Parts: sequence; structure tokens; C-alpha cells
Amino acid sequence: MFIHVERFSFKGGAQQYTGAGKRVYVAYNTETAALKIIIVGSLPLFDFDPPEDWYGTETAITSAVGTDILARKDAKVLGLFGTGRQARRHLVAMCRIRPIESVRVFSRSAENRAAFVERMGSHVSAKVEAVDSGEAVVRGADLICCATGTNFPVLMGEWLSPGQHVTSIVASNKGVVEEGSVTRPRREFDDEVIARADRVIATSKDQAIQDEQGDLFEPVANGIISWDEISDLGELVAGKATGRKNDDEITVFKQNSDQGVGFMALAALAYDKATAAGIGIEI
Ligand SMILES: NC(=O)c1ccc[n+]([C@@H]2O[C@H](COP(=O)([O-])OP(=O)(O)OC[C@H]3O[C@@H](n4cnc5c(N)ncnc54)[C@H](OP(=O)(O)O)[C@@H]3O)[C@@H](O)[C@H]2O)c1
Repeated sequence: MFIHVERFSFKGGAQQYTGAGKRVYVAYNTETAALKIIIVGSLPLFDFDPPEDWYGTETAITSAVGTDILARKDAKVLGLFGTGRQARRHLVAMCRIRPIESVRVFSRSAENRAAFVERMGSHVSAKVEAVDSGEAVVRGADLICCATGTNFPVLMGEWLSPGQHVTSIVASNKGVVEEGSVTRPRREFDDEVIARADRVIATSKDQAIQDEQGDLFEPVANGIISWDEISDLGELVAGKATGRKNDDEITVFKQNSDQGVGFMALAALAYDKATAAGIGIEI
């Protein structure tokens, strides 16, 4: 089990966290049914994060799993949208799975862009530079990662070129639309991205359908793609869904929902490390 509560404000065309309670992981041993571990608080996976930012740390890792399967092996240029928590973690995660040499980052504020370069430059071997438009992020990039809090598309399909891979993390649920917090479902890319994509994978298609998440739900509603043409990350990992077929395909990973199985893999890892180090309280 994994329990968490988050609060947001939706202002200025973006979603901001206003509170995130400590997360609680509860893991059982599936062979013996014994309670294995209870973890209170997120795992401090990234050393550049201060403790108050220790939540949502798993997201970039889930992104890396799908991206690793879908992106070209020789991806060297990363185009990054966003300069916040998720962008910092996605930068590091993407540089772990590919031999990234150069990173271009963009968000709305020039000050945030400069601060990101200053803060994160030493955490990866790639050269990190700020650019002043979304298009400059995308042109010439091999891997494009949208790690923003936006409510509106930041990535336009017309900027894409063959061989590129796109990973995108923004999602919302229809309750947010119904209560009027956003005027329409949140989007991180426009329909043209899906129109240009040869392969589209979601972390969870069911979640996208249930929550009417804009980046997939709207292209399906607009007849650009059908749900049958979109596969789940689990199917991709298990070899039951087709990934990239050649270096010219455009692939999209809509990382629309973290996965319990990922949290539990981390909880089990934490258990092994804590036990080996003699950390924790036995109950
Ligand atoms: N899929 C998942 O599993 C999952 C899990 C956790 C979180 N998330 C998503 O991750 C989002 C970001 O979380 P976070 O912790 O990184 O928030 P954050 O620290 O507030 O960062 C948000 C970033 O988005 C940038 N941004 C906002 N609007 C933009 C635009 N139009 N163009 C370019 N950049 C823009 C902001 O920079 P500027 O102000 O400079 O533009 C900021 O750097 C959340 O809103 C949530 O939707 C997804």
C-alpha cells in the first residue's frame, strides 16, 4: 500500500503544490504474508533535494523505465521543459539511462532557468544550458522530456522530427475540471504530438480513461488515435507491446500515473538496505 495526500493551487496556467503530507509505504512479504516494512516519508533518492522536497521522488524513475525502452540508444541531446522538482530529477534520471552530452532547458521564467543551470550543472556530466523558447528545446534534441506543472501544451507536434522520443508527466483528473479549478483538462503537449507519433505508451491507460486525462483522452476523442493503439508500460516491459521499431520512429511515453509496483520495488530495496545497515525499529 502507498498512501499520500497532496494539495494544489491552479494559478497562472500552472499547478503548484501547496502541501504534501508525508507519504506512507506499507509492504508485505507476498510469500509468507508477513508485514515487512512501514516507511513514513519519501525515500531521499536525490541528494540535491532538501528534505521539504522529498515527495514525488519516484516519478522520474518511472519515466526513466519507459524512456529507456522507447528512446534511441544513441540519444545524446536532451530537451527539457520545466525547471522545478521534477525537472531536476528527470535531468539526472535521463542522464543515467542515455549518454547525454548536452541539455537544453526551458521554463517561463528566465530567472528559474538560470537558477536551474547553476544548481544542476554539477550533477550531470552533460553541458546544461538554458534556452529561451520551447521550440529551441525541441529542435535537434534526441530525447524530449516535459517535466512541468503547466495546464496548457508546452510541446507542439510541429516542432518534432523523426527519431525523437517524448516523455511527459502532467496529468489530472476530471474532478479538477468539474470543480472548476482548471477550465479544461490539463495538457502538456498538443494533439499534433500524438498525430506524429508512431508509438504511444502510457503508464496506465485505464487511469487516463478514468480521469479523462487531456493528453491522451482528447486525441482519442478527436479521432487522432484509438485506445487500442496505446499500450501500457507494463505490457511494454513484459514484451507484450511493441516499442520503437527503428531509429526514425517518433515515440511517446505519457507517464500519466506512478505505479504501485514501482513504489513497492523501492520499499523492498529500502528494507534490504536498512536491514543490512541495522537502521530502523523492529515491531
Ligand atoms: N505523472 C506522474 O506520475 C506525476 C507525479 C508527480 C508529479 N507530477 C506532475 O509534475 C508536475 C510538476 O511537479 P514539480 O514538483 O516539478 O512542480 P514545481 O517544482 O512547481 O515545478 C513546475 C515547473 O514547471 C514550470 N512551468 C510551469 N508552466 C510552464 C510552461 N508553460 N512552460 C514551461 N515550464 C513551465 C515551472 O517553471 P516556470 O514557473 O519558470 O515556468 C516550474 O519549473 C505536477 O504539476 C504534476 O502534474 C506527475
